[in-house]
Amino acid sequence: MRALTWQGPQDVRVETVPDPVIQQPTDAIVRVTSTAICGSDLHLYSVLGAFLHPGDVLGHEFMGVVEEVGPEAAASGLSVGDRVVVPFNISCGHCWMCSRGLFAQCETTQNRDQSKGASLFGYTDLYGAVPGGQAEYVRVPQAQFGPVTLPEHGADERYLYLSDILPTAWQGVQWAQVPEGGTLAVFGLGPVGQLAVRTALRLGRVGRVIGVDLVPERLAAARAWGAEVVDLNQVDGKGRKPEEVGRAIAELTDGRGADGALDAVGMEAHGNPVAERVITVAGRLPGVIGKPAIENAGIDRLAALHGCIESVRRGGTVSISGVYGGMVDPMPMMTMFDKGIAMRMGQCHVKQWTPELFDVVTQDEDVLGLEDLATHRVGLEDAPRMYEVFQKKQDNCLKVVMTP
Ligand SMILES: NC(=O)c1ccc[n+]([C@@H]2O[C@H](COP(=O)([O-])OP(=O)(O)OC[C@H]3O[C@@H](n4cnc5c(N)ncnc54)[C@H](O)[C@@H]3O)[C@@H](O)[C@H]2O)c1
Ligand SMILES: [Zn+2]
Ligand SMILES: [Zn+2]
Repeated sequence: MRALTWQGPQDVRVETVPDPVIQQPTDAIVRVTSTAICGSDLHLYSVLGAFLHPGDVLGHEFMGVVEEVGPEAAASGLSVGDRVVVPFNISCGHCWMCSRGLFAQCETTQNRDQSKGASLFGYTDLYGAVPGGQAEYVRVPQAQFGPVTLPEHGADERYLYLSDILPTAWQGVQWAQVPEGGTLAVFGLGPVGQLAVRTALRLGRVGRVIGVDLVPERLAAARAWGAEVVDLNQVDGKGRKPEEVGRAIAELTDGRGADGALDAVGMEAHGNPVAERVITVAGRLPGVIGKPAIENAGIDRLAALHGCIESVRRGGTVSISGVYGGMVDPMPMMTMFDKGIAMRMGQCHVKQWTPELFDVVTQDEDVLGLEDLATHRVGLEDAPRMYEVFQKKQDNCLKVVMTP
């Protein structure tokens, strides 16, 4: 089959690789009909190369049609021909963690050798080295629990984002704990930030959303969905100093700050040119030197997270959806303690949010505008070019959906 493979930093290629086969009774094989590029794939593209091997198949946002089912997956009711979307975390559904809804920490698929949580599709040795879904076919482990069966009708893009960015955005909004009618600041208006804006205003009880970014068309898209926006290019210091973003948010909130701040940016935040250079170098080191460099260094660009901490009001909550990876990142403990903020973070527990979001996406009306989120729809063979376009935010690119 054809699949998008990682070959080296900023080097991904579509190659012919062996077709996946059923390996466990709980497996299924899915023929992929749509697969998206995520901001999380960009970390693999540029920073986390030390944890990948040339030939690894990427991709964790995909949906399709079940082609083959192992006996235990079949016993759960999954059948050949079912149209399914597959959550990016691989969870068993019955362990101690899963029974508490903590699917991103599933104890059946946890990576204890790496001291990491549940396995993820297409996401490095740290998370199980499971081949991903930017491919014609994908092996889905724990298929007795993971795949969500979909109606036959409706465009793929109505359902595709249930794999990741829709529940991630919604979890991020929920975890920000904004009281009814309160204000949520959303840092980062990529696909996750856009859906955070939309879910907060359409499904949540949030009164106001203030979006923060520096890409004009992303700011405009958030505004079109009802957010007020802060353009980092217009802020003194262009967002390099978190206090300045904090001041801009304070001005919009009677000097108090936002009730909740959501970081939908993560480790590659724009804002600190020195950190940007150091991290780019660490990301290009070969595995044997690069792994310790990444595990023991403060590799993250923290401008957005520090901006959230400055922007949240005293006693408010910072919710972190953006992915971070450093071990000794400097954090402003005095500010965090003095302001008495709460923080919540982590991978999305996708299936915790599936029931309520399934009801939303299957309504007649596309209330979250999911069918209009993608700006680029291409064949899988165009994936290498689209990784670059999405990373560099060229051509007004907001979300890329590929059809194998
Ligand atoms: N927790 C999870 O389960 C989960 C799931 C999906 C994605 N993610 C993470 O969420 C983050 C966002 O994903 P995405 O697909 O929207 O990515 P993206 O890279 O398209 O979006 C990030 C946005 O942040 C903006 N930005 C950069 N620096 C900023 C700063 N200092 N302040 C404000 N905005 C800034 C960028 O211009 C961009 O628009 C990524 O880190 C991704 O890995 C986490
Ligand atoms: Zn993702
Ligand atoms: Zn489990």
